[in-house]
Amino acid sequence: MSDDVLPGEDEDHGERTERRWAVLVTGIIALLVAMAIFAGIHDAVLPQSRTETIDPRTLHLGGEFTESNLGSALLPDGSVIVRAIGQQYSFTPQCILVPTDTPITFRMTSADVVHGFLITGTSINLMLVPGFISSIPARFSTPGDRHMPCHEFCGLGHEGMWGRVKIIDRAEFMRLAADHRRLSCVAQ
Ligand code: CUA
Repeated sequence: MSDDVLPGEDEDHGERTERRWAVLVTGIIALLVAMAIFAGIHDAVLPQSRTETIDPRTLHLGGEFTESNLGSALLPDGSVIVRAIGQQYSFTPQCILVPTDTPITFRMTSADVVHGFLITGTSINLMLVPGFISSIPARFSTPGDRHMPCHEFCGLGHEGMWGRVKIIDRAEFMRLAADHRRLSCVAQ
């Protein structure tokens, strides 16, 4: 303490410094809380990276999910892509035809509310959310019929919303694919 400091002045100075620090620390905490809230909300309202979006109101008017493009299609690389939509209270196509021993990609979306899509006896399980394209790779080793129920409550008709997946021999599928641009087993 220097000689010309008046009594009490040093105490005032200490108090001022403490108050300044208190304000600064409060400000830093408030900033961190604001950043955490912003990051949380930002994360919740934005889709994940690489998520594909689509307008559910215009699905039928054109583009990937127009009716004539739904079903299974053979790609030039020998893999199969399956496009389907869920709506209250059915899937289109209602029966999906896929080959054995072939890499398959399911690409699906919803035309109205959130639906679920799963294939019984497999780990294939998707949420169909309006506005987004859900995609999952698959491969089936044995032929057979499987159920494809909607597993997300989507309204009064939810219980009746289910379809079928028919897995057929790869060679038979390839024969059918030679004549048809899109395949399904709706009529079968
Ligand atoms: Cu669609 Cu439940």
